[in-house]
Formats: sequence, structure tokens, C-alpha cells
Amino acid sequence: MKFLDTGTIELLVNGEKRSALVRPSDLLLDVLRDQLGLTGAKPSCKNGDCGACTVLVDGWPVKSCLMLAVEAIGHEIITIEGLQNAPLQQAFVDEFAFQCGYCTSGFIINCHALARIHPKADEAVIREWLQSNLCRCTGYEEISKAIHSVLSTHKS
Ligand code: FES
Ligand code: FES
Repeated sequence: MKFLDTGTIELLVNGEKRSALVRPSDLLLDVLRDQLGLTGAKPSCKNGDCGACTVLVDGWPVKSCLMLAVEAIGHEIITIEGLQNAPLQQAFVDEFAFQCGYCTSGFIINCHALARIHPKADEAVIREWLQSNLCRCTGYEEISKAIHSVLSTHKS
């Protein structure tokens, strides 16, 4: 693809090969939402600050507003739509860890990665990890409880 051209790329998203017509400057976030219909990753700051747009790239949480769609070629992308029956999703429900819900998919994706990468994370690691995401509603207490409940399950 020439630098300024629009072209079709193939992305591996939630275990499926998906095609998208993109410009080199298109953000992964926008392509996921506008072309692939995956609206769980939310646009908010589009500046890397809020984490509402977080997806997994090869298992690591990435802010999809900071990644070009073309950079995702050859990597495995998981969005909130690809997490089905993950323990953390039920934990957020059980602990009432959301109000408006706008931040929730980003938190769940980020903390799903935390539970996999640091299943025995201590409080300091959890707090540091949560700095990637902002919530304007909950005050974080319930979110923290939801995460702890999943991590304690991993420990048992
Ligand atoms: S929209 Fe991506 S970090 Fe805020
Ligand atoms: S639940 Fe509203 S921003 Fe987090």
C-alpha cells in the first residue's frame, strides 16, 4: 500500500479474519467501530489518557486510539465482544462496578489482561495497572472489589 492510498487490509479480530478498507492514518479504534461494527471499545479522549478504547493486542492491553489500523496487521486483536463469559464480566455485575458504563469495556479488557499476566497481583500492582483507565462515575471502589474477587479466585 502506498503511503497516501486507501487499501484493503485483513485483521484478525476476536478469532476471525476481517477485511477493512482503510487509509494509512486510520486509527484502529475507528476501524473497529465504524467498519467492523465492534462498538465496545469507546472513543473518549482519543489521547491515550482515559482507557475507554482499550483492546487486547497479542494479549496485552493497548489503547486503540493510539494505534493505527495498519499497525494491527499480523496481530491478534481481542475486543470486549470477544470476551464471552470471562469471570471479570460477571464480577463487574456482581459488584455493581459501573454506572453509566462508558468506561466499563476498557476496564474489563485491561483487568482481564491483568488477571492473566499478574494472577497474584498485590495491591500496589493493581493500583498501578488501574491508572490506565478513568471512570467518572463509580469512585473505583466497586471496580477494585470486582478485580480482587477474580484475582482471589485465581489464587485458590
Ligand atoms: S479514547 Fe483512547 S485512551 Fe481515551
Ligand atoms: S461507569 Fe461511567 S465513566 Fe465509569
